[in-house]
Amino acid sequence: MSKQSLTLSNELHAYLVAHGTPPDSLIADLIAETSAALGGVSSMQIAPEQSAFFTFLAKVIGVRAGVEVGTFTGLSSLSIARGMAPGGKLICFDVSEEYTSIARRYWERAGVADLVELRIGPAADRLGELPAEPHLDWVFIDADKENYATYWEALVPRVRPGGVLAVDNVLWSGRVLDPEGERSESTAAMIAFNDLVAADKRVEPVMLPIGDGLTLAYKR
Ligand SMILES: C[S@@+](CC[C@H](N)C(=O)[O-])C[C@H]1O[C@@H](n2cnc3c(N)ncnc32)[C@H](O)[C@@H]1O
Repeated sequence: MSKQSLTLSNELHAYLVAHGTPPDSLIADLIAETSAALGGVSSMQIAPEQSAFFTFLAKVIGVRAGVEVGTFTGLSSLSIARGMAPGGKLICFDVSEEYTSIARRYWERAGVADLVELRIGPAADRLGELPAEPHLDWVFIDADKENYATYWEALVPRVRPGGVLAVDNVLWSGRVLDPEGERSESTAAMIAFNDLVAADKRVEPVMLPIGDGLTLAYKR
């Protein structure tokens, strides 16, 4: 048997989602509303199995202090907040009032609005507002690819030993293997970012073929 991960057909993906913790009615509504309101842009949303995985991780890690860069309509933040302990805080950065207005409604509906703080503005400018010491249990980076390295450098020192950084789209639909010369700016940024993480001795990374590729990095 091959040790490679399977390429999932639509049917196998649906099977995998159904046999994990499938989306409940609230998450199903958020996925449907994002698609109806935003059309093709809705593909920016994390995958349903990532949502269940994030709630699971938040519980296992015991997330009390988290940061998210790239909130969109709220699926990843909602998933983390649902697994957080009471009194925790997830600070979310995004540039879009339009997208995050949907997120705010779903945080309210899920009863987690008091755990989430939204800060609107370019994250590269705003991450410096966070305390400099290593206080974060969880970081999720899922915004503009060209700034991933900037977000990483701002956030790694702020994660406590034993905390976790998660980064989305690290396989970039396979374009990380694109031959030189055919690279867009975002593809080049993703390739350079993955090399940066692999060489970063402050963390122990694993790259998982879930969704569009997810790196989880354990802070030493
Ligand atoms: C891939 S989507 C995030 C998806 C989200 N994590 C989810 O689960 O639905 C990327 C988000 O990054 C935001 N974004 C883009 N550039 C940004 C920047 N410079 N600073 C902060 N957010 C940014 C976009 O507005 C968009 O909502």
